Amino acid sequence: MPPPPFQSADLNDAAADLLRKTAERSLIVGVIGLGYVGLPVVVAFGSRRVRVIGFDVDAEKIRQLNEGRSYIRQIASAVIAAQTTDGRFHATDDFARLTECDAIIICVPTPLTRHREPDLQYIEGTGRTLSRHLRRGQLVVLESTTYPGTTQDVLIPILGESGLRCGTDFWVGFSPEREDPGNQQYSLGTMPKVIGADDPIALEAMAQLYGLIVPRVVPLSSSRTAEAVKLTENIFRSVNIALVNELKLVYTAMNIDVWEVIDAAATKPFGYMPFYPGPGLGGHCIPIDPFYLTWKAREYEITPKFIELAGEINTAMPDHVVDVTVKSLSLRRRKGVTGANILVVGVAYKKNVEDVRESPALKIMTRLVALGAHIAYIDPFVPYLPRTRSFPTLSGLASIANDADFSIYDTAIICTDHDAFDYNLLVQTCPLVIDTRNAIARAGVQGENVVKA
Ligand SMILES: NC(=O)c1ccc[n+]([C@@H]2O[C@H](COP(=O)([O-])OP(=O)(O)OC[C@H]3O[C@@H](n4cnc5c(N)ncnc54)[C@H](O)[C@@H]3O)[C@@H](O)[C@H]2O)c1
Repeated sequence: MPPPPFQSADLNDAAADLLRKTAERSLIVGVIGLGYVGLPVVVAFGSRRVRVIGFDVDAEKIRQLNEGRSYIRQIASAVIAAQTTDGRFHATDDFARLTECDAIIICVPTPLTRHREPDLQYIEGTGRTLSRHLRRGQLVVLESTTYPGTTQDVLIPILGESGLRCGTDFWVGFSPEREDPGNQQYSLGTMPKVIGADDPIALEAMAQLYGLIVPRVVPLSSSRTAEAVKLTENIFRSVNIALVNELKLVYTAMNIDVWEVIDAAATKPFGYMPFYPGPGLGGHCIPIDPFYLTWKAREYEITPKFIELAGEINTAMPDHVVDVTVKSLSLRRRKGVTGANILVVGVAYKKNVEDVRESPALKIMTRLVALGAHIAYIDPFVPYLPRTRSFPTLSGLASIANDADFSIYDTAIICTDHDAFDYNLLVQTCPLVIDTRNAIARAGVQGENVVKA
């Protein structure tokens, strides 16, 4: 239940000004953090002819954007160029310009620390920067995924260091982001948007703001509830993926094809939703977000077992793929893994995207290198592997050419089922193919040399 609607009589001059500017679309929107989440937000407001200032600490990203170049595949450079050329959008690292903005949307990273605990340094740092430039009449919305209570207990107190008062001088809320890179069907502009705030004026301002770019807003009773919605959506995925990963192990032992089972179960028109097994979780969300809740739950002396168990099962999947590879090399090719030439097919964390953050392919490659294998990879979206904190030894490794000869490898491991791959050619030329995505069967190809993992 959202809080009771605001009363116009409760509006002070600053609130009335904010709502008027939003209604007239004369507001300026500031977006802090121009990554996979922030850039689509910029583009969405720009396409509704709202002026946007984008803030980032990465000078190279700012330069590219102001030159009209996009670094995210699903956003065309032409779209960015159109918005920068006519002045609708400008990117900057001059945070003093936050003062110019009426609504400020925070889309900075929320990773885990080395000890797998929430790392709020980006939210806190942004809050401190913002508090130095905050002025009366501004709306601040946090979109970064985080545990319930972050907006109320962390962000608002930091913003209060400005000397201004939340709910009187400025307003704050939380709205989770549902961005799904590579999804052709749904995008920010076609999905309902959840909004949560702890006072009715903030909620009204958010409803008007996001009403400009989404088909429907879903107002909630508090910022904590909205924070919980995002975690629930991602925990739902993590737990269900773990379930099918576990079923894969059980059914494989029984010589039953788990993908055939899932496709058949999905014909039930109610009460079932298909999730698919794979080499392990990847990306910036599903492997990370659930642990924001488990960490917070400890404060309430609760250990959410489902979430921990799902994490355990999903984390073990890359090792399972390595096990299957080692056994298959031995049984089918009479070869040990040490010295074997292994090709990893697809290193992005999911199909048709270029993002390798937390990708299980990197874990599998690192494990195989440790066992003495010679590793190469092919991925048309990832020409070379960027530096990552967890897999520094792989950084700089380049993809083999698209038309390379697969026959020189002892085995290939399909980690990502990009549409661009020629699965038929792979099966025809590579002596052994380990398939973690059921990509070969989905492509309508068959081969005695294919092992599902
Ligand atoms: N990627 C997704 O699909 C997705 C989906 C839903 C939610 N989220 C959440 O959205 C948030 C952002 O994720 P992302 O994928 O866009 O991350 P990202 O790494 O792609 O982008 C974050 C951007 O913030 C910038 N940045 C870092 N510190 C900053 C600072 N102090 N001030 C200004 N800019 C700063 C970085 O340079 C980068 O450009 C995270 O909380 C994430 O969990 C991501």
